[in-house]
Order: sequence, then structure tokens, then C-alpha cells
Amino acid sequence: MESIWMEETEIRKREPLPGDMEAEAVVIGAGLAGILTAYYLKQAGIRTVVLEADRIGSGQTKNTTAKITSQHSLVYGQMIQTFGRRMAEHYAGANEAAIKEYERLIREKGIDCDFARCPAYLYSRTEETLLRQEAEAAKSLGIEASFETDCELPFSVAGVTKFAHQAKFHPLRFLAKMAEEVEVYEQTKVLKVEGRRVETGRGCVTAEHIVFAAHFPFINIPGYYFARMYQERSYVVALEGTERPEGMYLGIDRDGLSFRTQGNLLLLGGGSHRTGVNKGKGAGKGGRYEMLHDKARELYPGCREALRWSAQDCMTLDGLPYIGRFSRRNPGWYVATGFGKWGMTTAMVSAGILTALISGRECPEADIFSPQRHFTAQAAKELAVHGAHTVKGLAKHLLPAGSEEIIPNCPHMGCRLEWNPDEESYDCPCHGSRFDREGHLLEGPAQTDCRRRDG
Ligand code: FES
Repeated sequence: MESIWMEETEIRKREPLPGDMEAEAVVIGAGLAGILTAYYLKQAGIRTVVLEADRIGSGQTKNTTAKITSQHSLVYGQMIQTFGRRMAEHYAGANEAAIKEYERLIREKGIDCDFARCPAYLYSRTEETLLRQEAEAAKSLGIEASFETDCELPFSVAGVTKFAHQAKFHPLRFLAKMAEEVEVYEQTKVLKVEGRRVETGRGCVTAEHIVFAAHFPFINIPGYYFARMYQERSYVVALEGTERPEGMYLGIDRDGLSFRTQGNLLLLGGGSHRTGVNKGKGAGKGGRYEMLHDKARELYPGCREALRWSAQDCMTLDGLPYIGRFSRRNPGWYVATGFGKWGMTTAMVSAGILTALISGRECPEADIFSPQRHFTAQAAKELAVHGAHTVKGLAKHLLPAGSEEIIPNCPHMGCRLEWNPDEESYDCPCHGSRFDREGHLLEGPAQTDCRRRDG
């Protein structure tokens, strides 16, 4: 199922890595975070190459709803309490600066990618107090935020938290242009990273600095990202024949939805669940698209579904991304992952932070995003939940595996895969790897296909 962005964009093909090579920096992954990081490193005078296992933008950049915003659900009140005001200011400031930087780049380079400023809103049918508190917290950090009761949505709400001057764009058109400015090798899968050597099936790149920007890091140790991150899937339907709100909306209630207009379409999103745990309606599983479809017909009678697709997001234990040094043990390695649902804005934040770290510039914003930041009480709670899923997934792999031709145990660390009827894929509840019906790898951290039964 192709997203609206894929339908409308052709990105120029690149050659695979021609053989062994030296560079100052190598970026693994040619999504938005990887391409932007390579672009700014090049601007800083650092010779950088990008290695991509598939095609430019073939990962999660193509599946986003492409909101560029510092509004990341209800985060600022909690962040001030947990990390302190100064750190929260850095988070808010880095995200607001990212919106401005997109605008500057797009203007300067004349990129035709439907960039538009618009407000972003959180809505709730019941939680007026939470929305008021979030607006106050954000305002206290320098964001132009307010609580309001006016809303463009076709149902009544208790109120909205409005962030003014946020933005939206066409991510693949933007990416296609930016990728022209950097050295990218496609169809070049990284097999192993050791010290300064990045080994691929096409040759080896040696570099002082290595950036892991391919969604979920495939290296388990060091870093231990598998133990402090899981993945979530969410679903989008693009609708014709609806009202088209100017603002972008996100519900904070349990059944909250995402609304965002693109051209004559309304992108309606929702139905998030931990990857590998798709307990929806019907026979106890799946039904995410049907839920969105029913909602669409209820809210916009007579509307028509033009497209549908889904996204996969890396979720961290404390809800903030991991951007910075990969681990204390590997000083030349860097990572950008755990973007949650906010990949577009966070990709730009990552590019800024990683370029500063690699080029030795001061970067006060880096601390709040650091993968080595202190472990919070919220993170400890999430760790217990994450651990329980992993134990369950691992225990299940001992059960008889049914009659499938593939052996449905995840090649990453062995958890039992679960069938996702909405996507017709085998999904791993432990860390979110996915495989098609024949067991071919769709998404990592696993690096290989499932094993098949002999004969
Ligand atoms: Fe880690 Fe499946 S993704 S065990």
C-alpha cells in the first residue's frame, strides 16, 4: 500500500558502492535524518558518504503524515518536572528552530514541496485541564501556545492546545532535492561495523565518524537499544470529499485521531499499537483500517477513501529521542533513533546535533537528547512493560509453530512472530522486526529473513 508521497514522487536512482573507500564520515540510512545529517556535515567541510540498503526514502520517511512541529502530544509539563526547565527549553527550542530551518532551506533552494505554515492542535473531548496545563507549560518555554475552545473538527471538544506557526510539507519531494546535494550509494546493505570500518556486500568504507540513522540500530551490543526501545505501528487513510481543516490535529484521548490536510485530501490517522500486538476488533485481531474507515464515514458522510498506508515508529522508554553518541565505548559512533511519531522535526534536530558533535561545536541542546541521559522513573516503568513483552515473546518461541512454511521465530533474538492481518505480515512483539508472508525481512532490527522449514 503506497502512501500519497510515494505516488507523487520519483527519486533519482544511485549506483551501489563501487568498492572500498575512505571518507571522514559515513551515514548509514538515506531517510530524512541520514540525508540531512550528511548535508550539514558536508556544509561543515566533512567528506561524508551515505550508505542505503534499498533506495533513498524507502524507509519510514515515505510513510509519515509529514507534520513539522514542536507539538509532540502532552510532553512539556512532564518534561519540566522530570528534566528541569532548562533542559525542557532546549528541547522546545531545538524543535522550534528545526521548523525555521526547514523554511529557510526550502526558500533558499527554491524546493517545491508544498511547505506551509499552519497551527498544530491537541484536542480532547474531556481533558480541558490537561490541555490548559500543556499550553501554559509550552508557553513558559517560549513556544507561542494557547488554550482555545474554537476548533475546526466536526465534533465537540473540551478544548484545544494551539501551537501557532507550525508547518507541513511533502517529505519525499523535499528529500529528493536534498539528496542531490550529498554522496549516496543505494542497494548497499551494511553487514557489520567494527571500529572505523563499515562493511557492506559491495565493499568497505573506513571513516573517523559513523552515524547510525537507519531507524532501529541493528547492532545489539554496545548501545543496547533493543532493551530500551520498541516499535509501534499506526495507520492512515487519505480521504476525498471531506472538510479540510487548515490546522493539524492530534487527539490525546485513548481513541484520539490525527487530522492533516494535503491538497484535496484529508489524512486521517490512528489505531496505534505496539508492533506484533495488533489486538483490534473482529475476531480479537486487526481491524485498524476498518476502524478508521468507520470513523471517516461517521464524521464525513459521503467521503471516499483514496489511499491507505501504515507507519512504524521507534518508541523510547522516556518518550524522548536518542540522538548523540552511540555508546560510551565507541567514541566515533553516533546514533539518531527513537523519534516516536515526530520523525520530520526530529530528523532536522538530529542533523543539527550530530553535525555539532562531529565537528566539535558547542551544542547545549545535545544533553536532553543524549542516549546516555539519566534514567527516569517513567523509563523504569516502561522498561518493566517492555521486558514483559520480550519475556512473553521469547517464551512463546518454545511452543509448536503451527503449519506455516516459515519458522515464525524472529531471527533477531528469537521471539515468536505474530500475524498482523491488517498488513498481512509477521510482526515481532519484542522489538518490532517485520516479515512478509514468505518470511522476507521488511523491517529491522533483524538483519535476515525468517528460516524456512526443509522440504
Ligand atoms: Fe528482536 Fe524480534 S525484533 S526478537
